[in-house]
Amino acid sequence: MITAKLQATALAHPNIAFIKYWGNRDDQLRLPLTGSLSMALDGLDTVTHVSFDPDLAADRFILNGMEQSGAALNRVASFLDHVRQLAGINLFAQVESSNNYPSSAGIASSAAAFAALALAATKAAGLELGEAGLSRLARLGSGSACRSVPGGFAEWLPGSGDADSYAVQIAPPEHWDLVDLIVVVDRSEKAVGSSAGHKLAATSPLQALRVAGVPERLEQCRTAILMRDFERLAQVVELDSEWMHAVMRTSNPPLYYWTPATEVVIWNVRAWRAQGHAVCATVDAGPNVHVIALAEEAAWAEAQLRALPGVLEVLKAKPGGGARIIN
Ligand code: PMV
Repeated sequence: MITAKLQATALAHPNIAFIKYWGNRDDQLRLPLTGSLSMALDGLDTVTHVSFDPDLAADRFILNGMEQSGAALNRVASFLDHVRQLAGINLFAQVESSNNYPSSAGIASSAAAFAALALAATKAAGLELGEAGLSRLARLGSGSACRSVPGGFAEWLPGSGDADSYAVQIAPPEHWDLVDLIVVVDRSEKAVGSSAGHKLAATSPLQALRVAGVPERLEQCRTAILMRDFERLAQVVELDSEWMHAVMRTSNPPLYYWTPATEVVIWNVRAWRAQGHAVCATVDAGPNVHVIALAEEAAWAEAQLRALPGVLEVLKAKPGGGARIIN
């Protein structure tokens, strides 16, 4: 008897948050306190192959060719439990994942990782969840992963519960010729990951104020994208990033991700914009700076950035698509 193999391969991109997700109303289900909005990063690829196999006695997770154990394996195995439950199967799986961008570049890879894993694992298990269902599922692995499922310019709708908390594409990647210049100033592994960071957010007296302003900033950001209004985008993206880092710094214990080079990059980007260049800066949970620029400014901005003290590397990404099955 020939049985169909329970395996599939998917590709997904990381994303940069223009309006940040920081803090949950339910940590277990990763239900966020607010909506958030991001751009998927083309050319930065996570490719994940999943195969459910009756011969396995436990899940296996191989990342960039290296067998994982401990917390990394447990996070993948818990995620696979959701898929097994949905599909009504009890087979263990082998998950092989690789990133084409250096893990030392300090780009959060969990968004791409769980978007690709959600798609590959459900496809391998014979499930067709549709985009919203897949985004919901990816959210359980890493909140920001839900935005990598639709890709392009994506907004995560916080929802009223598990069923309606997922991301939708508000504009396709080709809508706006933006570039993300990812300015690497530090290659070390961050000491506090975002799952722990979300839990700390509530300890900051600034968090309630930040949260209260998000609907207005989301509206500004959505409008700026739909109208391709760079100056409006720049102002709201920089403001929202500052709010998140203000909350981080005033948490208990405080989270301080920036290095002096982070400040140097931001300071210069602001000066260049004041001179008329279409560039702005945003920082996720780490010291590296994402400089968002109009494509026509990218070559100029990249050269300027490379000349700044403390800049180790500059990666370039255009708006990317959503998670997809590949052969
Ligand atoms: O998805 P997580 O739990 O890794 O959190 C992502 C947090 C930020 O990158 C700082 C902001 C965001 O919205 O992506």
